Amino acid sequence: MAGNRTFTMIKPDAVASGHIGAILAQINNAGFRIVAMKLTRMSAATAGAFYAVHKERPFYGELVEFMSSGPIVAAVLEKDNAVEDFRKLIGATDPAKAEPGTIRALYAKNVGENAVHGSDSDENAAIESAFHFAGLEVF
Ligand code: RTP
Ligand code: MG
Repeated sequence: MAGNRTFTMIKPDAVASGHIGAILAQINNAGFRIVAMKLTRMSAATAGAFYAVHKERPFYGELVEFMSSGPIVAAVLEKDNAVEDFRKLIGATDPAKAEPGTIRALYAKNVGENAVHGSDSDENAAIESAFHFAGLEVF
């Protein structure tokens, strides 16, 4: 059975461009309930640990630099089939390939600076949520 929670970050590009409100509205309008949320900033070490799964990829250094370049909004979202439905709402990694109307089609700059993160499995949603939030911060 698909889980009902996913983890997201509004990335530094979208925070700096003033898109927090519009993106959260789109998330709410799509039927997700926010069960945890904070404005925070990852150090390079923290971003490196969060994205450790990509350590061998050629873009890892850029990704860590970008994700630690400014504040992010981290949140846990609840909805039936949350992981898959949220990936649909955000669109493809490369905004040039993202469906019209998706968050990345609307707000991402390019494949690296792509406005939002969405967990890719129930297992990673739980790991990523616990990375950013203590149990008492999730409602
Ligand atoms: P995310 O984890 O952030 O939700 O993104 P995703 O699943 O759609 O893509 P993933 O393959 O997990 O890549 C993680 C993030 O790395 C950056 N990236 N840059 N320059 C590049 O070719 C490249 N490819 C990926 C993006 O910020 C991507 O979201
Ligand atoms: Mg990913």
